[in-house]
Amino acid sequence: MSADASFFELGGKKALIIGGGQGMGESSALFLARAGCDVALVDLVPDRADVVAEKVRALGRQAFAISGNVLDDDQIPLIVAQAEEKLGGLDLMVSIVGGAAWGSLLETTPEIWDQQMHLNLRYFFLVAKEVAQSLIRRDQPGAIVGIASVDGQRAAPMRGAYGAAKAGLISLVQTMAVEWAPHNIRVNAIAPGHIVTPRLFDTPQRAEGYAASLLPMRHRGTPDDIARAALFLASDMARYITGTTLDVDGGLLAANLFPRGLPGNNQG
Ligand SMILES: NC(=O)c1ccc[n+]([C@@H]2O[C@H](COP(=O)([O-])OP(=O)(O)OC[C@H]3O[C@@H](n4cnc5c(N)ncnc54)[C@H](O)[C@@H]3O)[C@@H](O)[C@H]2O)c1
Repeated sequence: MSADASFFELGGKKALIIGGGQGMGESSALFLARAGCDVALVDLVPDRADVVAEKVRALGRQAFAISGNVLDDDQIPLIVAQAEEKLGGLDLMVSIVGGAAWGSLLETTPEIWDQQMHLNLRYFFLVAKEVAQSLIRRDQPGAIVGIASVDGQRAAPMRGAYGAAKAGLISLVQTMAVEWAPHNIRVNAIAPGHIVTPRLFDTPQRAEGYAASLLPMRHRGTPDDIARAALFLASDMARYITGTTLDVDGGLLAANLFPRGLPGNNQG
């Protein structure tokens, strides 16, 4: 990133990254740090967060790794309080944690359904509420960024529960934005398309799968592409933007799979 960091008006801001140990969370932490933020990195895997914290410190900002599981309701207030205490305040949160279970709706059991709602929606509700309560208590403006998915905006075959949970997150972000706007808290989401992350595309073969050639931009995105959007939405550059979901998908949702009509239909 070559732009002057002051451009984003984030100097000295304190950011909490949920799932900051790798992929989009790591990239978001590094982009926010380059723009002048100190960061607290929460991750299930403490070693990962430690490594990212070192990278942030190398950029000249403060960083704290926090070991925690946001799927444990009881840990959420402790995680937010710990971040606030270590950072000496809290202004921003980017929450990355989520993931899809693979299977048709007919194969989706109530247990899988509940697991997907928890991993992609329920924890985000609880952690965003905790951050908002902290901001309101301190009469502090703030910004919250969640991660939805293109799967929350169209049919999501073989990951229907995931799509429904991400659609829920998009709705939740709108309601949070409206209810918390009087407190100067902005809430937005990013809807990634196909992004090469350590967990999903861990081999070059998986990373270069068939779908990339169907994307309008002809390649998958990177965690940095998501981090750029997170930085924008968290910063004052987006100061009049709240309740929105920004597609970061290389044109995936804009594309029409059958631009010349359905196959076999010559009437257009
Ligand atoms: N990769 C894609 O193509 C794509 C597309 C659309 C949406 N998404 C969304 O992007 C987000 C990131 O996906 P990813 O595969 O990069 O993430 P990931 O599974 O690599 O997780 C990121 C970090 O979060 C940590 N983490 C996981 N569960 C946690 C928990 N309960 N508490 C604390 N930390 C936890 C992990 O240890 C990891 O370091 C998800 O919300 C996913 O649904 C991804």
